[in-house]
Order: sequence, then C-alpha cells, then structure tokens
Amino acid sequence: MKTIRSPRQMQSLALAWRRAGKTVGLVPTMGALHEGHLSLVRRARAENEIVVVSIFVNPAQFGPKEDYLRYPRPFAKDKRLCERAGVNVVFSPSPSAMYAEGHDTWVTVEKLSRPLCGAFRPGHFRGVATVVAKLFNLVQPARAYFGMKDFQQMCIIERMAEDLHMPVKIVRCPILRDPGGLALSSRNAYLAPQERQAARNISLALRAAEEVIKSHARVPSAKVTAAAWSILRKIPGMRLDYLSVADPATLEPLALVRGRALVAAALWIGNTRLIDNRLVRN
Ligand code: PAF
Repeated sequence: MKTIRSPRQMQSLALAWRRAGKTVGLVPTMGALHEGHLSLVRRARAENEIVVVSIFVNPAQFGPKEDYLRYPRPFAKDKRLCERAGVNVVFSPSPSAMYAEGHDTWVTVEKLSRPLCGAFRPGHFRGVATVVAKLFNLVQPARAYFGMKDFQQMCIIERMAEDLHMPVKIVRCPILRDPGGLALSSRNAYLAPQERQAARNISLALRAAEEVIKSHARVPSAKVTAAAWSILRKIPGMRLDYLSVADPATLEPLALVRGRALVAAALWIGNTRLIDNRLVRN
C-alpha cells in the first residue's frame, strides 16, 4: 500500500491507471476509521481493481465554532486498517496543498444544501461538495462510496456528479450500527460511556417513527415526529437541532407521509453533535 501526500502525484497516478484501463474505487473519509468506513472499503475492494481511501480533515466543511482542531486524527492506525483491508493507496494531502494560496472556486448544490443540517451548519455542504469534486478530479474514480448515515451529504454528491457530468457512479452504502443501535461515526469517540448509552435512544426514536409510518397508509408527519420525540426528549441534557420527516428526493419536510419518507434527526449530547436517519416506505 502506498501513501500519497501530493495532489499532483495522486492525479498523475490516477491518469496512468486510467490509461491502463483500470477501474478505481474511491472511499472519501476524514480518517478516524471505524467499521462503517471499512464496510465501504470492502465494497470498493470487491467492485474495483484499485481502491483509494482519502484521509483528509477538510477545514472548509467546519464552521468557526466547530470541532476542526479536536477532530480525531489517528493516522498510523488508519493506515494499518487500510493496509489490512487491501487498500492500494491512502491519499492524505495537507490543507495547504488542497487549498493553495488564492483558492477561490467553490461548488454549491443549491436547494439540497438548505434543509436539515444545511440550516444549522452554514457553508458545510459547500465545503463538502468542493472537496469531493477535487477528490474526484485527483483520483478519477469510476465509483465512489458514501454511507447513508450522512444521507444529505450523499444526495448532494449525487446531484453534483449528475449536474456537473462527472463520470463517477455514487454507490450508496447502508448505515452500520453498534450492538445497541447507535449509528457508527468518528464523532462517537467524543462520547463518555453514559452519553453513548443515552445516544442509543436516537435509533430507538427513529425506529418508533418508522413503526408509525409502516402501520398507516397515510399519516401526518406530526404523528410520526411525536412518536420519535417521546423517546428523544428523555435523553438527559439533549439539545435538538432538528427532527424531520422529509421527502427523500428533495429533503424538504413532508406534511403527510404516503410513500417513502426520510426520518432524520440531529442533536447534541454534551459537546457532541450526532445525526441519524431511517429511510422508510409504508
Ligand atoms: O463524510 C465525510 O467524512 C466527509 O464529509 C467527506 C465526504 C470525506 C468530505 O470531506
């Protein structure tokens, strides 16, 4: 396995692979790899000749008061996990190489970036779309793998790839959960044991919402959120950003659920912001 730091070197290698007719699978990450990331890597390994994992804590997607500086960076451990999973290249550029002096080009996916997390994290999805566009240009993947935990991010990347005619297939990968149901996330590392225990109520709440949807042909969203809220509200010290029943294509809120719906929540437990969702069909 190779580690590449230089964007230029990454791109020359990717172009050489392309000339040689090799298919490349990209798993974009910010490191602090867990089983969720590794499930994406395994899928990429099974479907492509070459697998690249990018590890880059992208400053452009963090707000000024967010956790950019304290975001975990266990690089040596991440590299070992990648090596064991059969990754060919870990691409880990520096912030100054990705955003050189004078950088002034941004990718914004307008409508999909507004609801849900977009309403609470201004500029976040602009940072995500921009860095992912850069990674696509540098790695030239045939396929790129995204977890459904970050459902809005995944939709935004799909839209961007389609709108900008990027020759890459976005592969949706299921959420992985711990035995208590907590969606795996690098930020779970911030949780104290009792916070982690409390966080398990998030998936219970979303399951309760799903039950309501599944037991009605048509149901007002307020009834769905009420079921979830009755569980979430018991989490000690919890602060809710949103609990939404949304159209899974537009991510806009639904008043009435009649078919597919995305039930999504973002909340704070202590200093940790957690997100989770369930894609439901009634
Ligand atoms: O999901 C993440 O880890 C990041 O948002 C991504 C896609 C690697 C872009 O920095």
